[in-house]
Amino acid sequence: MSINFRLLSDHTGVEVTGVSLLHPLSSELRDRLYRAWLDSAVLVIRDQDLDPHQLLAAAKQFGEPLHQHNTRFQIKDCPQIHYISNQDKYDDGRRYIPGAGYHTDHSNAEYPPKATILHAKVLPKTGGDTQFVNMARAFETLDKGTREIIEGLKAEHVYQSSHSSRKLVGLTEKRKAQIEQSVVHPLVRTHDETGRQAIYINPIRIEQIIGMSNTDALPLLDRLLDHAIQPTHEYRHKWRNGDFVMWDNRVLLHKANPDYDMQEMRYLFRLMLQGARPH
Ligand code: SIN
Repeated sequence: MSINFRLLSDHTGVEVTGVSLLHPLSSELRDRLYRAWLDSAVLVIRDQDLDPHQLLAAAKQFGEPLHQHNTRFQIKDCPQIHYISNQDKYDDGRRYIPGAGYHTDHSNAEYPPKATILHAKVLPKTGGDTQFVNMARAFETLDKGTREIIEGLKAEHVYQSSHSSRKLVGLTEKRKAQIEQSVVHPLVRTHDETGRQAIYINPIRIEQIIGMSNTDALPLLDRLLDHAIQPTHEYRHKWRNGDFVMWDNRVLLHKANPDYDMQEMRYLFRLMLQGARPH
């Protein structure tokens, strides 16, 4: 089987065909995939059919799995793998669509995940794309004045920001006690593997910018988000069954789209890989 790499946009996303993740990769191929991922931030390996244990084994070749904060969506016999489903509900009965708003994963952790991996199992006929915006590109296209303002600023991240319009599913008391209550991260982070700088914001988790009033901080955060989510910074992933998609949380914001018929099922496996402390 020949292995092909194809860029999916001029800044984000690379598609790989002709690779099977059912068996261990050679170190040469593993390194080629990892390099392509670092360069493109979203690695899409097509045509996989992995059960949770096989997915875990495949993912471990790229990093160390990380337990998610919310344990509710764990796969019972393989708890490091979670699921994403459009059939889940909040406690009050409303439908819960995980990730339906721009965010980066678990930024309220001292060591947030470098990567998140989704593996598509059941998809709606149309819609349900994942949108990614490249925050390194957004940093590079920011006007010089704003760049100078945000370099050196730090923000406090919490599990659920009081400013967020999107509500997360609550944690159990046990998990609440286990996770950090709040952490402080730079607003511009330097990628620990590529050295590239990127804006590091998270509308659902940032509670405050340190040393700045909310009157100044919230409009600044909104302005950064508006700048970042322009189409020119975006790669929009149209899912195919069997896609294994690994993205770089150090470079991207992402969001799910609830724009399809909810009678249809959307179901994916999910896990994250340990990252470094942002600096
Ligand atoms: C997520 O935020 O991890 C979910 C993305 C998606 O379901 O498209």
